[in-house]
Amino acid sequence: MKKILVLGASGQIGRALKKDLIEWNEVEFLSRKDLDFQKIELIETKIKKFQPDFIINAAAYTNVDGAEDSREEAFQINSFALDKLSKLADFYGIVLVHFSTDYVFDGQKNTPYLETDTPNPLSIYGKSKLEGEKFIEDNCSKFFIIRTSGVISRNEDNFISKIKKFSETQKNLSVITDQITSINYAAYVSKSTSILLKKIEDNIENERRWGTYHMSGNKSGSWFDFAIHAQKISRAIDPKSIFSETIIEPTNSKNFNQKAKRPNYSFLSSDKLKMEFGIKLPNWEESIFEVIKENGQK
Ligand SMILES: NC(=O)c1ccc[n+]([C@@H]2O[C@H](COP(=O)([O-])OP(=O)(O)OC[C@H]3O[C@@H](n4cnc5c(N)ncnc54)[C@H](OP(=O)(O)O)[C@@H]3O)[C@@H](O)[C@H]2O)c1
Repeated sequence: MKKILVLGASGQIGRALKKDLIEWNEVEFLSRKDLDFQKIELIETKIKKFQPDFIINAAAYTNVDGAEDSREEAFQINSFALDKLSKLADFYGIVLVHFSTDYVFDGQKNTPYLETDTPNPLSIYGKSKLEGEKFIEDNCSKFFIIRTSGVISRNEDNFISKIKKFSETQKNLSVITDQITSINYAAYVSKSTSILLKKIEDNIENERRWGTYHMSGNKSGSWFDFAIHAQKISRAIDPKSIFSETIIEPTNSKNFNQKAKRPNYSFLSSDKLKMEFGIKLPNWEESIFEVIKENGQK
């Protein structure tokens, strides 16, 4: 059985991978304290020792607004570290699986973004992620770049946890209607990634399907749609909770003071993933349901 090294183990996707990769005998998980991407060169010792067949990189600088002020850090973690990591992966014959984002696109389209569409990121975060993708494409022969969007999970710093937290101090919540994307439960992304690896593990040398794949549920929505649905589920579970009783109002991104520019439309078509590997993610309603349900069980 193949060996897997997972980076970014304490993030949303990293933690979900801990559950999903349980059936693989030899998996090593590294979090920031084990390997800081500011010193990515230290990974070579770990690679030589563990000799992984796959490296899954779920580590990233993910603070979209924060990146506008921390350009250097965002580029170090999301781009330059990937230059080194992808060169090492290629040198040691390792398959590199890396996560990226819908924010590599500028939102000028109004139909689902395909892997063949030209990226044009609007934010530092998006630019740093795109640079990381390019390093992998240039340096590596065996790789998957998996672009996803709006990752959510239990008790994390994500859209659902944020609106619930805001509702503790604000009776009325204004949520954006003019940014269309999708949200995805970290466990769905992790499970689909693990299925992808299972599908190729026995025939890596003959594998030809390397490249970039979009991974999302097949339905788009606005942040307002997501918030309303989250509240609907919350009301069904606990009608008297603070979040259930909050008034959610639609607003426009112009009225919302976001430091980083975001695409108005960044919904990803996952048809290629379905066609090549038969993998299909549940849609965002199910993602929201899973997260609210899990949180409700606290
Ligand atoms: N979150 C989203 O909505 C979203 C949307 C689209 C794509 N993605 C992509 O999906 C991937 C995973 O996202 P996620 O939501 O799981 O992110 P996350 O929860 O923010 O986790 C990111 C992980 O990266 C680690 N990290 C940050 N700086 C590091 C450094 N200098 N050295 C080593 N590790 C470092 C963090 O460590 P600490 O725990 O120590 O901070 C954290 O565990 C990323 O590639 C992201 O770009 C995410």
